[in-house]
Amino acid sequence: ELGNYRHFMQKEIHEQPRALADTLHDAVAGESLMPELFGFEAAEVFSRINAVTILACGTSFHAGKVASYWIEALAGIPCRAEIASEYRYRDSVPNPDALVITLSQSGETADTLAALNHAKALGHQYTLSICNVPESALVRQSKLRFLTRAGPEIGVASTKAFTTQLAALFLLTLLLAKQRGRLTPAAEAAHIQSLRELPGKVQHVLALEPEVERWAERFADKQHALFLGRGMHYPIAMEGALKLKEISYIHAEAYPAGELKHGPLALVDKDMPVVAIAPNDTLLEKLKSNLQEVRARGGELYVFADADTHIAPSEGIHVLQLADHAGPLSPILHTIPLQMLSYHAALQKGTDVDKPRNLAKSVTVE
Ligand code: F6R
Repeated sequence: ELGNYRHFMQKEIHEQPRALADTLHDAVAGESLMPELFGFEAAEVFSRINAVTILACGTSFHAGKVASYWIEALAGIPCRAEIASEYRYRDSVPNPDALVITLSQSGETADTLAALNHAKALGHQYTLSICNVPESALVRQSKLRFLTRAGPEIGVASTKAFTTQLAALFLLTLLLAKQRGRLTPAAEAAHIQSLRELPGKVQHVLALEPEVERWAERFADKQHALFLGRGMHYPIAMEGALKLKEISYIHAEAYPAGELKHGPLALVDKDMPVVAIAPNDTLLEKLKSNLQEVRARGGELYVFADADTHIAPSEGIHVLQLADHAGPLSPILHTIPLQMLSYHAALQKGTDVDKPRNLAKSVTVE
């Protein structure tokens, strides 16, 4: 079953072009997107809602956080992502006109299911599940659904489920934007075209594995690492840090780069590798000055940069160029090298990559 791969995680990382193509298959067949991709009642629901709440755990929560940036920026709808185990136990203000989205690979995560039931008990009737398992409890209990087609994910660390969730959430963002008259037919066609090109672009980033592996060798003896991103790439930094902790047991934290000087900069020294996600977006110049702050404290920087950023490597600044900036799909591309970094750091350390200690694939108990 593993083919030429050493672990399921590696195999699943490399399956992402196929998983994305399958997940997007029906959506990108024509020149325009249909709400029915999310269920036959979706058009009506999308026209009624005035807010979006996304509930999930772990990696799935990170996908939700990326989507909160997309949905507010492109569809103009207030959106927040919340950790399911927090939402289910706090007194929140219900909004019966909100779309409540649960995100889950397995569809059986206890806290996410409980959060859905809590939302329903509060009067929320517009529920959507984005899930990788068709017959799961979450899918059965939601009004609308979108099934990601990642295929079975065996490695405990989620990879292809995450990027396919992002693809589904981007489709949702476009549909909501369209419903609100914020998407011209030309813009819609252009987005569909970039989604068609996405699997190929992911393939291109996967080809950087040998270089990422060389970087990973320098992480294996480290105790800590910092991950920096800004805007919609901050959740990608969170995901990179989670992957590294989870499978290589290296303590990693993610920060929005603008927060550095409010505390975490005190941690930076030559033993603290700092990973930076550097897309060529409107925040690039801000990020560059954050990187200088790190460098001035002797921190070693590992920068995953879009090729068109023209960030040059120098003393203590390692740069790996991905491809030119991919616009709103950039978070998907920037996820790939972070998955490979944690995978190879774990290999160096000799941990059990597919079954990290203390963790279960599906967390069906609270
Ligand atoms: C991390 C990971 C977990 C899951 C989380 C939610 O790599 O896999 O953080 O994302 O347990 O699981 P699902 O998506 O099945 O609800």
